[in-house]
Amino acid sequence: MKDKIIIEGGHKLFGEVRISGSKNATVALIPAVCLAGAPVTIYDAPNISDVDALMKLLEELNIQVKRSNEHIIIDPSTIKNVDLSSETVTKLRASYYFMGSLLGRFKYVKIKMPGGCYLGPRPIDLHLKGFEALGAKVEYHDGFYEISAKELVGDEIYLDVPSVGATINIMMAAVFAKGRTKIENVAKEPEIIDVATMLNKMGANIRGAGTDEITIDGVEKLGGCYHEIIPDRIEASTYIIMGAACAKRMKITNIIPQHLEALISKLEEAGVPIEVDGDSVTVEASDDIKPIEIKTLPYPGFATDMQSMLGALLTKAKGMSQIKETIYPERFKYCQELNKMGANIMVNSPSCLIMGPTKLQGVEVQATDLRCGAALVIAALMAEGTTTITDAYHIYRGYENLFEKLHGLNAVIGEC
Ligand code: EPZ
Repeated sequence: MKDKIIIEGGHKLFGEVRISGSKNATVALIPAVCLAGAPVTIYDAPNISDVDALMKLLEELNIQVKRSNEHIIIDPSTIKNVDLSSETVTKLRASYYFMGSLLGRFKYVKIKMPGGCYLGPRPIDLHLKGFEALGAKVEYHDGFYEISAKELVGDEIYLDVPSVGATINIMMAAVFAKGRTKIENVAKEPEIIDVATMLNKMGANIRGAGTDEITIDGVEKLGGCYHEIIPDRIEASTYIIMGAACAKRMKITNIIPQHLEALISKLEEAGVPIEVDGDSVTVEASDDIKPIEIKTLPYPGFATDMQSMLGALLTKAKGMSQIKETIYPERFKYCQELNKMGANIMVNSPSCLIMGPTKLQGVEVQATDLRCGAALVIAALMAEGTTTITDAYHIYRGYENLFEKLHGLNAVIGEC
């Protein structure tokens, strides 16, 4: 993949697009397979660079991986618990899920500090607090975390913040722990339910995923399983908002509407004509978008990952909209890029004010992170003229077959 995306704006989109498997579920499901004692088949894993990176880490752990179009077959029976020290670890924050799964299976893990999108400080103190509560010792030296335990014993753990990563990581570390682990004030994102579902298929004993409290009763070992990943609600929101911005009529299929309730109700409030029908949504662009106020919250609230794409749409709203970001207060880098295109956005972190309507012009802009990049794709499709998006690698981390999907919707897009 080249590093610049070129988009000629002003073309009305139409047609149908199928949503891929969830990136944020997949990047947890793959490390979770380290807990299995037999092969696991994962269906509908998206073909994105984050998954490629995790495949490389599985190979470093001497795990056999077979990949076809829709399936990934992972056989962890030859796993070797080596130190995860390659640069690949620093490519994505989700590498930290190997902490929970390798600690859970081997009572020991040594891994380089995980990396990923820069969205401001992204601590992992709650993950480590959970591991320590289970009896692990956490040491950090020379850029590595070394986590070890004589034995892992269930405990009651309260998360100060309903962290998605910490919820999943502690759940994995507790799968073989003696007795019962209770994690309170957990995150309720659908991806957490998906990981718990797969682990239970493998023989784990996890209850309450999707509620405020998850209990895990330790078991001796896990088998293999077949697991189909839930659709990606953030990719879905990206295409729905894209349709609301510039489609004659667009159908987005393979979605779970319940995962998109907050977004759909906000788009309806903004006056976007949207129809939900089973596992698909049909949307049309409106030239009469009303300004709205958004506050990002943990699921089922309005997802922080959706706010930059919505910000692009709201540049055409007739009035002043406000976005208040409660998860990552610094997640407004996309605003300066939209302003380069003619938007009129004032950022006063943790909020931004979007004055509309403004006509966007194609210029060169920079993708600073995955969802900023997605917002710029939408803005470029809306804009007059041609937009060049640099650092496009951020976008390929989370959007499978971007060019094929957009060409199928009549977008004029290329790379260079
Ligand atoms: C997950 O990140 C997602 N990534 C993010 O999506 C998403 O934005 C985020 O959840 C919030 O929904 C994946 O699932 C791979 P958190 P995660 O732990 O788990 C604080 C995308 O665009 N916190 O729920 O890292 C943290 O600072 C990505 O797909 C602690 O204080 O997020 C933040 O303010 C970007 N201590 C809040 O909790 C901790 O130990 C939520 O973070 C952990 C988190």
